Amino acid sequence: MEKINYKLLNSQLLALLGSESDSLANAANFVALTYHAMDDINWLGIYVLRGDELVLGPFQGQPACVRIPLGTGVCGTAAATLQTQRVYDVHEFAGHIACDAASRSELVVPLLVNGELVGVFDIDSPSIDRFSAADQAGIEMLCAAYCELQSKCRKFI
Ligand code: SME
Repeated sequence: MEKINYKLLNSQLLALLGSESDSLANAANFVALTYHAMDDINWLGIYVLRGDELVLGPFQGQPACVRIPLGTGVCGTAAATLQTQRVYDVHEFAGHIACDAASRSELVVPLLVNGELVGVFDIDSPSIDRFSAADQAGIEMLCAAYCELQSKCRKFI
């Protein structure tokens, strides 16, 4: 598997989103950019916080479950704890929600804009142990840059 240059990806993200103020367009481009930069993934997207649940936002991959209560599944756990969830094998994660049966490992990063939870960024892989600590750090850096850009938009999605 090719190593991802997250710094380069971060520059591409800034170039792509930096001068656009529409948060939905920026969310869609963030998802498309990262999806095409990564090998061995089958789903990547954003769930947006709506009240006390997460609702499906822009994504790439198979159609997915639309609503996830906070505290449920990998995404709901990331949202409820505000902690990144890097799951080695989703079959070992109690309460994992299988949207795509092909998914075997998962990385979910909470998205915080101005200190407030606005959603989560979710990546699924068909391989066990797809996401390294370096991937986690790289994706967290991209999510932080994305949230900073979104804080300048009128409204989050
Ligand atoms: N597996 C996630 C659900 C979302 S999908 O992977 C697209 C979870 O357990 O929260």
